[in-house]
Amino acid sequence: DKKKVGVFAGSLRKESFSRKIAAVLKEVAPDSLELELVDLGALEMYNQDFDDEGNVPASWTEFRERVKKFDAVLFVTPEYNRSVTAVLKNALDVGSRPYGESVWDGKPGAVVSVSPGALSGFGANHHLRQALVFLNVPTMQQPEAYIGNVAALFDENGVMTNEKTKGFLKTIMDSFGVWVENNSASE
Ligand code: FNR
Repeated sequence: DKKKVGVFAGSLRKESFSRKIAAVLKEVAPDSLELELVDLGALEMYNQDFDDEGNVPASWTEFRERVKKFDAVLFVTPEYNRSVTAVLKNALDVGSRPYGESVWDGKPGAVVSVSPGALSGFGANHHLRQALVFLNVPTMQQPEAYIGNVAALFDENGVMTNEKTKGFLKTIMDSFGVWVENNSASE
């Protein structure tokens, strides 16, 4: 059976490199994985009152129900000010509540960080991992995926022209396929 993987790219930008990398990850993923990109733009900002008062926005309910059905989760994170973007953190927060009902719990995960800079989103990558430890997402440790100097990897049509990086992303996805297999709860 194919494992369904939710893909969360932490940028709303039309020409987002993170979303372009997510699209390549989907293209090179092994047959055992089915990747589905989740749009985070419509997700209302987290406000605990809405949960406490039972006045939950439709965007949250939809998101929580959708994430629950995934067998695994893949995060493609840009870096803002050496951390994850608010868009991605909001998605983590919305999915983690109400208390005791986190939709992330136990789902195998992986992190790919993306940056036009040379530091490759290291800060975002590891801040995200810190939250994922708490959320009980067993997150693939090796191989690590820091995609730096990302602007140079695509041509003007948004096609990945760098075959070496494409090969590396394939290695990441093949490893993630094995990781998902080995870290899925038995049914
Ligand atoms: C950035 N950028 C950035 N880059 C980086 O490598 N480390 C950082 O700490 C930051 N900080 C930062 C803050 C803010 C508010 C913005 C808007 C941008 C640059 C960032 O990597 C660049 O805009 C990427 O293109 C964002 O990812 P997407 O939108 O291409 O996926």
